Amino acid sequence: MEVLRLLATLSILQCGLAVSKVLELSDRFLELRGESTWLVMFYAPWCGHCKKLEPIWNHVAHALYGSEIRVGRVDCTRFTAVATEFMVKGFPTIMFIQGDIRHSFTGDRTKDDIVGFAVRMAAPPVQHLANHHELQALTERPGHLFFLYAGTQDTVLWDFYKSYAEEMRAFHYFYSIGADCMAENFNLESNPAVMVFKDDMHIFYTMPEEWEVAENQTVINETLGEWLNHERFVTFTKITHGNLGQLWKIKKFLAITVVKENKIGSITTDENTFRDMVKAVIINNRDKYHKYFQFGWTGTPDLANSIAMERLPLPSLIVVNATTLHHHLPEDPPHHLTPQAIQIFLDSIIASSAPAYGGDSWPVRVYRMYYNARTSLEDMWQGNPVLTAVIFGLPLGFLSLICYSIWCSDILDADEEEEHHEKKE
Ligand SMILES: *[C@@H]1O[C@H](CO)[C@@H](O)[C@H](O)[C@H]1NC(C)=O
Ligand SMILES: *[C@@H]1O[C@H](CO)[C@@H](O)[C@H](O)[C@H]1NC(C)=O
Ligand SMILES: *[C@@H]1O[C@H](CO)[C@@H](O)[C@H](O)[C@H]1NC(C)=O
Repeated sequence: MEVLRLLATLSILQCGLAVSKVLELSDRFLELRGESTWLVMFYAPWCGHCKKLEPIWNHVAHALYGSEIRVGRVDCTRFTAVATEFMVKGFPTIMFIQGDIRHSFTGDRTKDDIVGFAVRMAAPPVQHLANHHELQALTERPGHLFFLYAGTQDTVLWDFYKSYAEEMRAFHYFYSIGADCMAENFNLESNPAVMVFKDDMHIFYTMPEEWEVAENQTVINETLGEWLNHERFVTFTKITHGNLGQLWKIKKFLAITVVKENKIGSITTDENTFRDMVKAVIINNRDKYHKYFQFGWTGTPDLANSIAMERLPLPSLIVVNATTLHHHLPEDPPHHLTPQAIQIFLDSIIASSAPAYGGDSWPVRVYRMYYNARTSLEDMWQGNPVLTAVIFGLPLGFLSLICYSIWCSDILDADEEEEHHEKKE
């Protein structure tokens, strides 16, 4: 019996070691952290989102095993000093820590996104490609978006490129390559050049005339910054709660195709057809619309409903002004929309003749808060009526208990309380 139990324990231990490469950190982390590069999850045992992240976190640790990045987690309810030191405000918080650098991860909590973030943060802001084979390999990764600088590293353009890379590397990939290393068939529009690779093509940053004339640094800085900001997402990107914050920063109109993904990430045929139609319209008219719109689709209708402050039909198309938060809806019901109707709708937005709803004024904000609270409550009720009743019933229960105890104060007997205390100790 004893031997069996020992064997069982051993095998559990082994499994544990093989599966989890996540280091369990304590207050000692505060002394240890200087020694390496860390990716840390700050969590609390009671937090549901943390539990959901746990299996993903194990995969992240697995993927980064053998790299310089060590993956750990801290129970912030036990090691509050660590939580305080890193100013953890919510759970789970994912943070990259290297010396004095601390960067919280704000993207979607998927293995690929988290690993990509950690790898970019640990590498130099701009990674250098030695030859065109390396570039070729990057372009072959499906859906991969990256920026590339071609030229020598002693130009003004390089300085600005590098400083924007430092700023944006938590979200995007930045590379550099020698201009003579580009494949022969690759026509650089200028030397040095900056370009983005996405949607199976590459697009150049066009230098302003002034640059060639006066090397005006202010102009280069501003136009490059604006260009990088405009090109940082693919033409028809997936919109999630994780990247919405970055999408607002583009300050274009955000055109969202709304469909509903089920638990395994698939959508109905109807919705798929609609999404493909919108995508075709914008891909075919990229030159016309790219300047004004960032297009995308979301499988999370709540995200769009919260903007529209109503339950949109599925599928839907909604366009939001990222500056004023006004939104536009096509006049036709979505299932009547044709490619022509979509173009007319988009054109009317550019011409500012489309009716605008919502916005960001105080009354609208208050209404949006009310709307969000109401829908989360409704969703909670649909998901689990008993729990909802308990959560909202409990405070009422306590309140009545308090009232009751005030009116019948002899119910709380001081002697009895003291007795309880002694027993505990
Ligand atoms: C550079 O361009 C900016 C904006 O166009 C202008 O205000 C500034 O005077 C220019 N500087 C030089 C050195 O030409
Ligand atoms: C470049 O522009 C950014 C804003 O886009 C600004 O924060 C930064 O200070 C500028 N850098 C220089 C050297 O002018
Ligand atoms: C958003 O609306 C404002 C005010 O109507 C307008 O000036 C701005 O151009 C719009 N945003 C975009 C991206 O066009």
